[in-house]
Amino acid sequence: MTTVCSAPGKIYLFGEHAVVYGEPAIACAVELRTRVKVKSSTKMSISSDIGTTGLDFEIHPYVSSAIQKMGTPEISVEISSQIPVGSGLGSSAAVTVATLAAINIECGMCYEKEKIAQMAHDIEKEVQGAASPTDTFVSTFGGVIEIPSRKKLDLLECGLVIGNTGKGASPKKTANLVKQVALLKETYPDSINPIIKTIGSFAKHGQVIVAQKKYDELGKLMNINHGLLDALGVCTLELSALVYASRNAGAYGAKLTGAGGGGCMVALTDSQEVVALAIEKTGGRAIITTFTKEGVLQE
Ligand code: PMV
Repeated sequence: MTTVCSAPGKIYLFGEHAVVYGEPAIACAVELRTRVKVKSSTKMSISSDIGTTGLDFEIHPYVSSAIQKMGTPEISVEISSQIPVGSGLGSSAAVTVATLAAINIECGMCYEKEKIAQMAHDIEKEVQGAASPTDTFVSTFGGVIEIPSRKKLDLLECGLVIGNTGKGASPKKTANLVKQVALLKETYPDSINPIIKTIGSFAKHGQVIVAQKKYDELGKLMNINHGLLDALGVCTLELSALVYASRNAGAYGAKLTGAGGGGCMVALTDSQEVVALAIEKTGGRAIITTFTKEGVLQE
């Protein structure tokens, strides 16, 4: 038997960095998926763009940990992904969730989705040292999620363009940037705490505006959120160039997504082709995509 499961990547509409200090955020699953094919085999093998290995905690740490955690007999695992790696779009969560779900079905285990999300979060913590549960939760359940309540909001019915700067992709980047913000907050609490609080306020307003489907209003708040992330020192010239190119091309709003320091930005727009072209002209790689309610699923 063969089982194929896929799991989505995610973007932050609002609230990255502030969420570390208990402020609310809104994260959304996007229709960029990692597919994992699992079948029983005589020899353990893991294949992806980076090569074919056996259980290998250096080259395929997330998949190897997932296989180990599930206590599986010999299987072969094939991975293909539409999610750029280490760029703030939750690629490691998606591969972990899809692998756990495919093994779950292929090997006749009966874990519920809650358990898959929990195991995936544990694996991310083991591999990375620290990880928020957001990526693995959103990848498992899909949709638009308010953090930390995990309340599901309405799906956004407008287009999305992701702009990848192609710079600064690194799994260690998030930890460094979180530390950098913590230091700033410790040094200038009276200046930085209000910024963090204001970022938290966007998720509160965002919940109402998402329900009203006022995407131009949502875009305005995304723009302010971007400015405040810049104020916290996590933006780069390349990110802001793609953000401004998107706004000038008519996007409702645009901001960096995830930890920053490079990686990706997102633009909310119903003119996806125009915005994508503007991003490409400014030196970024544009990905036209949509929001999705589908989390991990069997294909
Ligand atoms: O770059 P990402 O997708 O790992 O997002 C990081 C989001 C932060 O708020 C900066 C950190 C966190 O764990 O929430």
